[in-house]
Amino acid sequence: MKITKLKGVIDYYGEYANYFKIVEKACKKVVEAYNYKEIITPVIEPAEVFLRTVGDESDIVGKEMYLFKDRGDRQIALKPETTASVMRMYVENKLYTEPGLKKYYYLSPNFRYDRPQAGRYRQFYQFGIEALGVESPYLDAEVIQMAYQIFNELGLKNIKININTLGSDETRKNYTKALKEYFSDKLDSLCDDCKRRFNTNPLRMLDCKKDQDTDILKNVVKIQDYLSKEDDEYFAKLLKTLDELNVPYVVNAKIVRGLDYYTNDIFEFIYENENSPLNNLAIGGGGRYNNLAKEFDGPDTPSIGFGMGMERLIGVLMELDGKTFKKEPLVVVISLSEEAKPKAIKIANELREIGYVVDLDYLNNNLKPQFKLCDRLNPDFIVIIGEDEIKNNTLKIKNTKTQDQFDLKVEELKEYFKK
Ligand code: HAM
Repeated sequence: MKITKLKGVIDYYGEYANYFKIVEKACKKVVEAYNYKEIITPVIEPAEVFLRTVGDESDIVGKEMYLFKDRGDRQIALKPETTASVMRMYVENKLYTEPGLKKYYYLSPNFRYDRPQAGRYRQFYQFGIEALGVESPYLDAEVIQMAYQIFNELGLKNIKININTLGSDETRKNYTKALKEYFSDKLDSLCDDCKRRFNTNPLRMLDCKKDQDTDILKNVVKIQDYLSKEDDEYFAKLLKTLDELNVPYVVNAKIVRGLDYYTNDIFEFIYENENSPLNNLAIGGGGRYNNLAKEFDGPDTPSIGFGMGMERLIGVLMELDGKTFKKEPLVVVISLSEEAKPKAIKIANELREIGYVVDLDYLNNNLKPQFKLCDRLNPDFIVIIGEDEIKNNTLKIKNTKTQDQFDLKVEELKEYFKK
């Protein structure tokens, strides 16, 4: 019986799995240096976790969520995003009783019944961070800086950071009112989604894909005109801090983000490369969500975070052919007799301890099949242990990049490779 995978999912193996690891490592390295701690929330959640919080009117909940009844007749969702799930965990486990800012990160599968195309999958992974419990433009700037640093760590270029602010609750209320006034006599010319959103969430009309280029949307009232003095000051401090940190950005009044829980500043990371099928895709996005804890009956917890699509990061990295990031150097240890095998395993371990990735052949004692392994793996170094080497307590080292070949005393091995 031939069974194939579902549409819009990926089998992660071989080179792709390797890229996945590289991206995962880079993301974790950056955020761990900021003292973020890893958390894991369940793949299945009660549907209510996402319904009101992400928003019934959002595509994610309204059109794309995987929903099913379990055998106990409960309405279950495969998590379409992770922020709401993190907040559910935070409130349920009373993590707010711990003092100070809570800094979490996750690497999590998410599910959206999206139309599959380049960079758009039905199961994908998000690497995300959430900082819970502090409202400060300096924290917000640092969160954006962290994302920027991930791109740098991976050597990714051409990623534009778009920022906007939705202001405080009061601002959004006033702006929503203004939007309703603006759109009220123009509805006939707008699409069905916009007509519906006019009643449910007019803010979402701003990022309508169908009506985006119409004059009605081009001339729409701007949130900037409704920001309070405090909103302005907060946003200005955030931008000033980004300037100070040399993080490039563009203020873009059009972005509203597709999830309802956002408040205040929001941002998106857009890949720009006209020659790529991934052109204009969001590599990541995020923002402040100061009211989400209250939706779960938790205490007031101003929060901010971002999520990045792993497959999109990988896609961009693969386009660069991995040229811009540093791989861990690879060594293959070749052993030419039964006696040499345990020594090879020992040498391999010593090199692993100092950060090398090491592989070897467990079956063969001849050179030919072991050179074949080298051809396949393309190591940076080859270490050979044969009869002469055992006799002299040495190792033959070949640097495959420079083609240098020389002997080394066994006890000098670590010292040499540390350099
Ligand atoms: P989001 O913008 O819906 O935000 O998703 C974040 C990222 O996930 C996107 O920028 C994109 O890279 C990736 N992504 C989304 N849908 C797909 C898909 N169908 N296939 C591949 N990649 C996809 C959130 O989910 C928020 N929870 C982010 C956040 C965290 N906000 C605050 N904290």
